[in-house]
Amino acid sequence: MDAKEVERLIKISRERPLMPETYIPWQLEPEPGDIFLPETLTSLQGLDIYETLTPTQKLELGRHELVQVIASYAWGECLFCVFMTRYLITLPADSVEHQFLIRELIEEFRHQEMFAQAIAKIGGKPIKQSGLHKFFGEFSNKYLPADYLFMGSVSIELVTDVYGNHARRAANIYPVLKKVFDLHNIEEGRHILFTKALLKNYSAKAGYIKRTLYSYVILFNILFVRTLYVKREIYERIGMTDPDQTYKLASKNFKQKFADNCLKDIIEFVDSWNGFNRLTRFAWRRVLGVRV
Ligand SMILES: [Fe+2]
Ligand SMILES: [Fe+2]
Repeated sequence: MDAKEVERLIKISRERPLMPETYIPWQLEPEPGDIFLPETLTSLQGLDIYETLTPTQKLELGRHELVQVIASYAWGECLFCVFMTRYLITLPADSVEHQFLIRELIEEFRHQEMFAQAIAKIGGKPIKQSGLHKFFGEFSNKYLPADYLFMGSVSIELVTDVYGNHARRAANIYPVLKKVFDLHNIEEGRHILFTKALLKNYSAKAGYIKRTLYSYVILFNILFVRTLYVKREIYERIGMTDPDQTYKLASKNFKQKFADNCLKDIIEFVDSWNGFNRLTRFAWRRVLGVRV
């Protein structure tokens, strides 16, 4: 991406900001029949057990899982802001990269506030990340070089974008959530454009080993996101008789659904710089359940 194109993205961000305060119809309450997450994205849909749930249990499952998804976005974006701030210090203030990252930081902070407000609006109680998630999130943020962190971030942005598209296109989604996903989709679209262009240079220069490492960084980022969504405690909350067994079934079910519904764009991206090779392909198949 040349400087002109980045300047164009900066200009849109400055001149046409989408403010969650006014863009989201916060005053609207959920109507009867509104849902919080499309059924296909919930962890239990597709299993026999799902058909035994009452309509209220199905609705509650969607509500709790949606809260988990957006709380995870907010946490991931906050981690990424920590990195971007550190990275920003190393850039000259007159470079376009510096200017774009400032816009991205502003937008990401607005997103975090918007997600937190959406959670409060639907009375959600996010479940905290596990110790392992916390450790890996903070460790990689601190010690991985910039190109690896941008690889990780674009992979998460691509996945969450597809996820958001499924949600905002669902016919009876609660309008507040639809607009939250609309706003996020528009602004993340610009972040993805920028990051992909930035990474083009890195991946063009990368040899076999580096491409293999990039591929693993992306794979682990996706695994990281996927395992943040499915939580045992949610099955307890909706009154399942055996939450442990439900959790086991749900994890397996969601792994396959996630692979089928959410990973097409990221697979195309990794493929575009030959990130699938003899050292990585088997791991993508086994860990993420995708056909590559
Ligand atoms: Fe965001
Ligand atoms: Fe972003």
